[in-house]
Amino acid sequence: MTDKYTQFVSRGLGRDIAKKLGLPQPVELRRYRPGQPLIEGPILVQGAGAGADELAAALLAWDLDVRRHAVPREKLGAIILVLDVAARPEDLERPVLTAAASLRDLASGGRVVTISRSAAEATDPAAAAARQGVDGLLRSLAKELRAGATGNGIVLADGARTTSPGTLGALRFFLSGRSAFVDGQFLTVTSDAGELPADPEKPLTGKVAAVTGAARGIGAAIARTLHRDGATVIVIDIPAAGDHLAAVANEVHGTALQLDITREDAGQRIIDHAVQRHGRLDIVVHNAGITRDKLLANMDQSRWSSVIGVNIAAQLRINEALLASEHFRTSPRIVSVASTSGIAGNRGQTNYAASKGGVMGMVRATAPLLAEHGGSINAVAPGFIETEMTAKIPFATREVARRLNSLQQGGRPGDVAEAIAFLASDAAGGISGEVLRVCGQNLVGA
Ligand code: NAI
Repeated sequence: MTDKYTQFVSRGLGRDIAKKLGLPQPVELRRYRPGQPLIEGPILVQGAGAGADELAAALLAWDLDVRRHAVPREKLGAIILVLDVAARPEDLERPVLTAAASLRDLASGGRVVTISRSAAEATDPAAAAARQGVDGLLRSLAKELRAGATGNGIVLADGARTTSPGTLGALRFFLSGRSAFVDGQFLTVTSDAGELPADPEKPLTGKVAAVTGAARGIGAAIARTLHRDGATVIVIDIPAAGDHLAAVANEVHGTALQLDITREDAGQRIIDHAVQRHGRLDIVVHNAGITRDKLLANMDQSRWSSVIGVNIAAQLRINEALLASEHFRTSPRIVSVASTSGIAGNRGQTNYAASKGGVMGMVRATAPLLAEHGGSINAVAPGFIETEMTAKIPFATREVARRLNSLQQGGRPGDVAEAIAFLASDAAGGISGEVLRVCGQNLVGA
């Protein structure tokens, strides 16, 4: 379902009025459905160098329709701009302007993906400038794309190649309908770790995943998506949400664990349930979260401590138990739900933003600890998502908030779930300590 405004401006008189008045004209996004092709139309791989050639060969091996040169006026599903050999800012000109000539041929719901090297690792100022330049370029281009097309980037750290599992995994995610609401974002591939799934439709086959806060909203969507992708799912929520939790557990053919995640022994309870009922634990998704909004001048201790307690302190304590457990040692994956409020800040949400900023710091510092066991930990930061929580925002504020991104609409719980499912998969094993925003490229803040 799209929102009413999107329906109104998508056809007939509504479309004409919106066009004349210069109003936002959101389109229905290309979202993933099982069995759907990865992308409709040919993929143009632009860029010189061995990395671009190797990548094009890898895509051909997936039976995709790959072009190394544009065919005039041919509709393209995607443009991949490989800029890994740029050593000076001037080196960007040729590949970027050649790709620019094909932008008008990008199909609705098309994709632009840049692949470049990490600016943080460059010691030569000119190389750092070229690499950091890709950041500004891609974020601006994403704001220029229309008709549900998105632009995202993959950054290669020193240990990664254009054909590393993490690069190909991230590329698959960005090309597919799974990333419909991810726009203007970068993922850094830090190593050659990870593995592409035997069956891309079921990348989580054989995995056991625990999802907190799964009785409703985004958590329930995560449970459904992980189940669709082949995982056995343990859904966790407070006892008061027991009925809804049982319904979600039944729907995903999983098991329910009634648990307040702020309990001291929450981590051990999750491990025990997983091992006793399913024999293993591979993935933990920290989704449970609460808001207790107040201006800081009016903030009371209970609002502050409850938000910090549920949103970050509980995650830290559960992670400690996971890291200490011998049952969480085979390519373990943790994915935490942060928020764009923790990046850009939000009036009335000092407590919430502190907790969500905390999630991002925690993820960065936990990554090396999990790497010892071939594991990874990442965060997903949703922007405006259509949920019960955001449905309560007054109409005018809500209407402004949901249009303030490059895709001019709110995301769906399933969009957040898709990003989490990708980061929970072995294809993302070479990606760790990262924050991926699922916000349609919010125009406000970072
Ligand atoms: P929701 O309020 O609909 O669901 C949260 C779930 O967490 C509820 O089922 C609740 O019972 C459970 N929960 C709360 N405290 C718990 C505890 N101590 N132990 C176990 N379970 C507990 O929230 P929604 O909208 O689905 O959000 C999910 C996550 O996404 C949260 O972390 C939230 O901060 C984050 N988020 C949501 C956005 C949105 O637009 N809805 C935007 C950005 C982030």
